[in-house]
Amino acid sequence: MIIAIAAIKGGVGKTTLTFCLAATLSEMGKKVLCLDLDHQGDLSAALGASKDDSDPTLGQILYAPKREQAEMLARGIIDIPGCCHLVTPGSDLGAYQSEIENGLASESRLADALGGFNKAYENYDYVLLDTPKGEGLFTKNALVACDNVIVPVQTEYFALKNIPELLGLIGQIADRANPRVSVSALVPSRMKQTSLHKSIHQQLLDWDVREQLPHQKQASWVAPPIRDLTLYAELSAQGESLYTYPGVKKMHRAPFIAIAEYLDTLAGQSIQREVEAVG
Ligand SMILES: Nc1ncnc2c1ncn2[C@@H]1O[C@H](COP(=O)(O)OP(=O)(O)OP(=O)(O)O)[C@@H](O)[C@H]1O
Ligand SMILES: [Mg+2]
Repeated sequence: MIIAIAAIKGGVGKTTLTFCLAATLSEMGKKVLCLDLDHQGDLSAALGASKDDSDPTLGQILYAPKREQAEMLARGIIDIPGCCHLVTPGSDLGAYQSEIENGLASESRLADALGGFNKAYENYDYVLLDTPKGEGLFTKNALVACDNVIVPVQTEYFALKNIPELLGLIGQIADRANPRVSVSALVPSRMKQTSLHKSIHQQLLDWDVREQLPHQKQASWVAPPIRDLTLYAELSAQGESLYTYPGVKKMHRAPFIAIAEYLDTLAGQSIQREVEAVG
C-alpha cells in the first residue's frame, strides 16, 4: 500500500509523522520503504542519512526515462537498520524540478517508477511518501502515485484553513489521474491543551471530506491527536526513535500505533477487494 503524507501547509508535522509511523510499522514487523520527496531532506536526516546517500537519488529517478525508473529505484534504496528502507531526494531535486516540468507526464513520474517497481519487488507492506509543503510538482507526484493520503493538521486556525485547498487538489487528481486516491486519515498534530486547539480538534472530528471529494466512498478517520511535546522534536535531533529514546512512554507512541493499526485494517480490506475481484 502506498501512502502519501501530505498537507499544503509547512511545518505541521508531516515528516515527524512519517518518521514515527515508519518506526511503528517496522516495530509491528511490517516492511516499510520511505521516499523523501522534499528537497530539504528532513526525513533522510531524521533517519540518519544525508540527502545524497541514495545512488541514484529520487531526483535522478524521477528525471530518468520510464523504462529505467523501476530498476533505478531498486538500486537507490538504502537500509536504515532496525527501521526501514529509504530513498533520499538528492541535493539537486530542486534543480530537476524544472527539467521534469519541461518534459511530458511530469506529475506521474513517481507513479511510473513505483508501478514498474511494485511488479518486480512486491516485498514492501507499505511505501510512505513524505511530501514537501505546497502544491508543487513532488506533492502532485505523491498524490498521483498513492492509494491513501494521511493529512496531518496542526490544530491551529491557519492549518485548518488549508484543508479545502488540499482536498481541491486531491479532487482534481482523482478526476484526472488517480481515481483510487482516498483521504483515509486526518491526524490532529502538535495539539495543545487549550480551548482553541480543542475547538479545532472538534471541527476536524465533524469534517466530512466527502463533501469536497465526491469520488470518495468512506469518510476519513480522525486519528487520536499527537500532542505538542518537545520529546517528538528531540527524537530526530538526537537520532533516536519512538522505540529507542529514553523517556518515551506508551502514551507518546499511542497515536502512531493507532494509525499503524488503522492502516493494517485498510490494507486487509484492499486485499479482500482484490480477492473478490479475481473470484
Ligand atoms: N508533536 C510535535 N510536538 C512538538 N514539536 C513537533 C511536533 N511535531 C513536529 N514538531 C517539530 O515541528 C517542526 C516541524 O515539524 P516537521 O518537520 O515534522 O513538519 P513538516 O510538516 O514536515 O515541515 P515541512 O513543511 O518543512 O516539511 C520540527 O522542528 C519538528 O521537530
Ligand atoms: Mg517535512
